[in-house]
Amino acid sequence: MDASDPAFWRAGAISSTLVMLVVLAFLTVDSLATIKPGGANVPHYNVINKEISYEFDSVASRYRPVIGGEQLLFGRRYSAEEAENTMRLGKLVIQSRNCMNCHTFFGNGAYYAPDLTKAWLDPAWQQMWMPMTQATSREEAIAMFLMNPDKYPTWRRQMPNLGITRPEAEAVVAYLKWMSAVETNGFPIHFGHIQTNNK
Ligand code: HEC
Repeated sequence: MDASDPAFWRAGAISSTLVMLVVLAFLTVDSLATIKPGGANVPHYNVINKEISYEFDSVASRYRPVIGGEQLLFGRRYSAEEAENTMRLGKLVIQSRNCMNCHTFFGNGAYYAPDLTKAWLDPAWQQMWMPMTQATSREEAIAMFLMNPDKYPTWRRQMPNLGITRPEAEAVVAYLKWMSAVETNGFPIHFGHIQTNNK
């Protein structure tokens, strides 16, 4: 078979397409295994029962999530099944209110309001929202803000009231806590986070 024969090029095209299909299938399976909860970079949903902090890795020159000891959310311990159901509700609330029309999650969405990937760790919950809402915990302050963002503004742009109910707010808080524990290779850089013993 020589290069002037069209069959030569056809065979080349078909074989390289087949090889790339195999590579694509492998990469898809590999990516799905990495990004699913319980995968290499994504914790199981029941991480919402744990303390989440960040530690500076000087070799990689970025912060990495550290999953600490037990830290209950809304005073309760979620079983794996409860955590999964809560996360499903949280995602439905986030989709139905179109939070990404203003915010970004993992960098995807709009740039009107802050990225929410590490919002759980924002020191502003303790510094501003806890005193404003009279809440005694961070999760309570976030829930109160989500139900009445127009009542507790901290910025010149204000978040509208999206009619979020108490169970919906708790589910979104759980989702935000889980999301903050995802290893995002240092994204977003310079996110504010609560200082803990392991800094
Ligand atoms: C119309 C635009 C808009 C939509 C839609 C919106 N937000 Fe917001 N959000 C804002 C703005 C603006 C702020 C800053 C408000 C402030 O600090 O007073 C904000 C602040 C927040 C914060 C605090 C972030 C931080 O750490 O400072 C959280 C959490 C949040 N929004 C969650 C949500 C969720 C969850 C949804 C969907 C259910 C949502 N937002 C939908 C505009 C929006």
